[in-house]
Amino acid sequence: MNNLLFDYPITDTKIQIGDRQIKLTIVDDPDRFLDTLSREDCDGRLYLPYWTYLWESAIGLARHVSELGNTIAGQRILEIGCGFGLAGIVASQVGAEVVFSDFEYDAIVFAKHNAQQNGMRSADYVQMDWNTPCFQSQFDVILASDVIYEEQNWHPVIDLLKNYLKPDGIALFSEPNRKNAGGFFKDIRKNGFTFEKSTCVVTLDNKERQVNLYTIQRN
Ligand SMILES: C[S@@+](CC[C@H](N)C(=O)[O-])C[C@H]1O[C@@H](n2cnc3c(N)ncnc32)[C@H](O)[C@@H]1O
Repeated sequence: MNNLLFDYPITDTKIQIGDRQIKLTIVDDPDRFLDTLSREDCDGRLYLPYWTYLWESAIGLARHVSELGNTIAGQRILEIGCGFGLAGIVASQVGAEVVFSDFEYDAIVFAKHNAQQNGMRSADYVQMDWNTPCFQSQFDVILASDVIYEEQNWHPVIDLLKNYLKPDGIALFSEPNRKNAGGFFKDIRKNGFTFEKSTCVVTLDNKERQVNLYTIQRN
């Protein structure tokens, strides 16, 4: 499975999250895949290969998870749209049981490689579209970094929270202060959830960007 990594130009990077350093293997120069890997499904939904980028939101969410530390140890956690898997890796390092999921098989392969090279031995990896989730049980925590950029994703993601977050569970979301994020959080409220928001600044590729963090719970 990991041989698939060599279909891509890859590079290793180290990301500092609190007092831990996470080694990530990522795609080098992902812009070159934007055209070749984009596709549309039979319902007209467009899938862009955004998993090939490491996003600031992943770093912001991973930091937040690291700060939660022991409070999530032993909990069952689902990461949706995991990309390279950074937030889930940190959750696993603080002792959670993590299921990594992404629509893209190749993203799952990178997430698994990254998890393993950071010492994770037991985790689940699921190729899953949030329009058609496939779990048998609910989760204590759902992690999502930068997954609400397109309105077409809002309702599938909200339905996923309704169906797969335990009644007393929390969802931790992050996004890079996009203009349309407010619309998603209005819809979250209309669907029986409440949330708290905080912000942090993440530096990636020498650029600083605001990342918003949301802790979402049922009303
Ligand atoms: C902007 S990227 C964020 C990746 C990663 N969470 C991060 O912050 O670096 C969005 C992620 O959502 C995944 N994704 C997009 N549409 C999806 C869908 N319908 N179901 C599941 N995952 C999807 C993409 O493959 C990609 O990994």
